Amino acid sequence: MSRIAYVNGHYFPHGAASVHIEDRGYQFADGVYEVIAVRGGGLIDSEWHMERLKRSLSELQIDMPMSVAALCVVLRETVRRNRVSTGIVYLQVSRGVARRDHPFPNPAVRPALVVTARRTPPVAAKVIDEGVAVISQPDIRWQRCDIKAIALLPNVLVKQAARSQGAYEAWQVDEAGFVTEGGSTNAWIINNEGILVTRPPENAILNGITRRRLIALAESRGINVEERAFSLAEAKSAREAFLTSTTAFVTPVVQIDGTTLGNGRPGSQTLGLRELYAEFIAEMAS
Ligand code: PDD
Repeated sequence: MSRIAYVNGHYFPHGAASVHIEDRGYQFADGVYEVIAVRGGGLIDSEWHMERLKRSLSELQIDMPMSVAALCVVLRETVRRNRVSTGIVYLQVSRGVARRDHPFPNPAVRPALVVTARRTPPVAAKVIDEGVAVISQPDIRWQRCDIKAIALLPNVLVKQAARSQGAYEAWQVDEAGFVTEGGSTNAWIINNEGILVTRPPENAILNGITRRRLIALAESRGINVEERAFSLAEAKSAREAFLTSTTAFVTPVVQIDGTTLGNGRPGSQTLGLRELYAEFIAEMAS
């Protein structure tokens, strides 16, 4: 089946879709993005994704390319044209096309919008049954990781370091020894009292939508969540650990830098949280 991409007002065959060479996203990584899960052809937590998109854009003084309602129509239409029932929709907004010069173009140019959608296989059963290994890497990123910017080079490098060491993810660690987040996921531990611990949504991390949703779901079940930084040492001696994202959902972590957590199997509380999240998704998709 041929894929279709939306670019600045038009739908193109995926292979023929392109952006201008002086798009500031291409030249300066001057833009933001969102990845939204698609289940049953519907968008999961699209309101929260739109809220985060608006915030990221306003922090960079880029206008919304269109209203949220119109954007949601484009997202749904791209999903429909690609016949995605289970997968993701990706959207990227850049500041637009202008002669290469660092300051914002004046007068402002029209922001550029690209939307793609594709089917994704469900998270592999092995990943859930056995859990995954993570490695640590120094966090070399800027101080506005709360903006979902397309400037992902440090994230690419830590993810590649993880891959080349046979790990699923890299947990980035700040100068004080505290875990910030993964290359493309949020990091969590569960302490000996069964309390979920994850870093607060300040500038050092992206406030993941899955993270936000899981906090709400956990709290609705009376599970305590502590939003505070945790050190790599604390993570290695935690009872359980896991990571979250739109594509990984809730994925158990069983090894950090070669140190095995607990008995080396996914923790029961983590699996319960994964189930809780899966139930929520199933409800949203129905
Ligand atoms: N990544 N932290 C970072 C750095 C991320 O890139 C992501 C998402 C998350 C989790 O956020 P959410 O729960 O909203 O997906 C945390 C997306 C999926 C990506 O870049 O593909």
